[in-house]
Amino acid sequence: MLQEAQQDEIIHDLIKQGHSVVSNFVTADAVKALRADVHKLWAEGDFKAAAIGRGAEEQRQTEIRGDFIHWLSPTNLTPAQATYWERIDQLRQRINRELFLNVQEFEAHFVLYPTGAFYKRHLDQHHGTQRRQIACLLYLNAGWQPADGGYLRMYPEAGNWEHTVDVSPQGGTLVCFRCDTIVHEVLPATRQRMSLTGWLCRRE
Ligand code: OGA
Ligand code: MN
Repeated sequence: MLQEAQQDEIIHDLIKQGHSVVSNFVTADAVKALRADVHKLWAEGDFKAAAIGRGAEEQRQTEIRGDFIHWLSPTNLTPAQATYWERIDQLRQRINRELFLNVQEFEAHFVLYPTGAFYKRHLDQHHGTQRRQIACLLYLNAGWQPADGGYLRMYPEAGNWEHTVDVSPQGGTLVCFRCDTIVHEVLPATRQRMSLTGWLCRRE
């Protein structure tokens, strides 16, 4: 699908339902290059166990989330990372024009879930701040099968836990959702699960 048409779809879905899923947001080669970044950083010990909350409230709780993260530094991106960053920046500008969210920054980390790890139901906005507005998740897994599990499960109507939207973390798939309303969780997988997860943020 053309870049322009993908953006149209994302904007339309965000307005209509607060979440959007597009496959093949980036090429298979780009996914491969980003996955290679993850393997290299992991091998070099450059991932750390993710925690919940922030600042003084930050704590590691594996019964809530069991993933490992590596923050990207926007001033030091590999070519594949820079290309993705540019695409997200174009999306950011359209989101500001059409959803009036006034998002100015993108922050992102690579995420690796070891086999069996999960992240329980949550919202992405931290306590007492509306900095994070839109989550943008790019999956990096090759040949993901339904039996591998690891779904992102979204609950588009908070409180109605029967209404779920499940997304398979297939390489190249981009998921965007509103951080103030979309409750979601990551189900355990039978294999390692990788993504490049980021947030369009307001300056506070
Ligand atoms: C998160 C998260 C979802 C996913 O990192 O906050 O909910 O599908 N990730 O990886
Ligand atoms: Mn989340």
